[in-house]
Amino acid sequence: MRVLGIETSCDETGVAVYDTARPGPEGLRAHAVYSQIALHAEYGGVVPELASRDHVRKLLPLIRQTLAEAGLTTADLDGVAYTAGPGLVGALLVGAGVARSLAWGLDVPAIGVHHMEGHLLAPLLEDPDLKPPFVALLVSGGHTQLVGVDAIGRYRLLGETLDDAAGEAFDKTAKLMGLPYPGGPQLAKLAETGTPGAYKFSRPMTDRPGLDFSFSGLKTQVLLAWRDSDRTDATRANIARGFEDAVVDTLAIKCQRALDAAGCDTLVVAGGVGANKRLREKLHAIADKRGGRVCFPRPALCTDNGAMIAFAGALRLEAGQSAGREVHVQPRWDM
Ligand code: KG4
Ligand code: ZN
Repeated sequence: MRVLGIETSCDETGVAVYDTARPGPEGLRAHAVYSQIALHAEYGGVVPELASRDHVRKLLPLIRQTLAEAGLTTADLDGVAYTAGPGLVGALLVGAGVARSLAWGLDVPAIGVHHMEGHLLAPLLEDPDLKPPFVALLVSGGHTQLVGVDAIGRYRLLGETLDDAAGEAFDKTAKLMGLPYPGGPQLAKLAETGTPGAYKFSRPMTDRPGLDFSFSGLKTQVLLAWRDSDRTDATRANIARGFEDAVVDTLAIKCQRALDAAGCDTLVVAGGVGANKRLREKLHAIADKRGGRVCFPRPALCTDNGAMIAFAGALRLEAGQSAGREVHVQPRWDM
């Protein structure tokens, strides 16, 4: 089954074709992402109306480009998957409208995919031998969750953030130290030049049992440290390093707890913060020590993309699921 995947939940237009006849990374026939970063940069964050308009401009050209790269035409498609939520409603409606119309015109089924299920299943696209049960850490700009995956489609929420998502904390912290949008990756880059231990921030909610997170207090700690500092580039890098270490340690501590609680040794990490180098190193070290394994998608499949939507949609379509003809999105949606 060849499935076109469309992702338009936020500020990335993602398109891909996944072919279930070729399991593993070979199944990804082509994928392309158009990022709106430059468009939103001057506003310091995503402007929903501008995001929707840009998806309208970019989606059809990107579909044409992706099909051409895969050496396919629309006639070769057996289904269309799109992100139905959660996300910005206008942005979601662009993807849903195009996906549904295309599916109707081609007389193939369409399926709406949960954005976080897309993230969660992305590591399975890369590694067909990876099978549930496992524990998933979903860390993006909008979510920080630990999920027990008993089977594909059977998910148990083990813990989540009570305030900011980890990516959101990265972005807000970067912004308050004057780094340009989107701050997360910039802050991570800056942290590489910082001295470990020069600034020590707390590991929130690790001193009590439980699998929930809270990152908004860390942001305040950074704000105070930055305000009272000499504000040199070296200090900014040291604070960035202290912040990154605090977030990474906190995530790692909770991941270990979740694995212990689930009696499981496989951890899957997905979402934009999964691209963070230090998080990857730390979780690999922990997995080695436990004799377990940790799986990350390649960084391009950690951040928003169409490949994860094509893949998750293909699994659901192959299982016989599809929806009616209506254009339906869910800006707020529990997985
Ligand atoms: O999954 P994603 O692309 O979009 C959402 O669904 O939110 O995640 C984006 C988030 C942003 O908050 C971004 O700052 C963060 O992931 N991010 C990173 C890194 N790359 C992306 N955070 C820390 N280190 C990185 N290398
Ligand atoms: Zn995402």
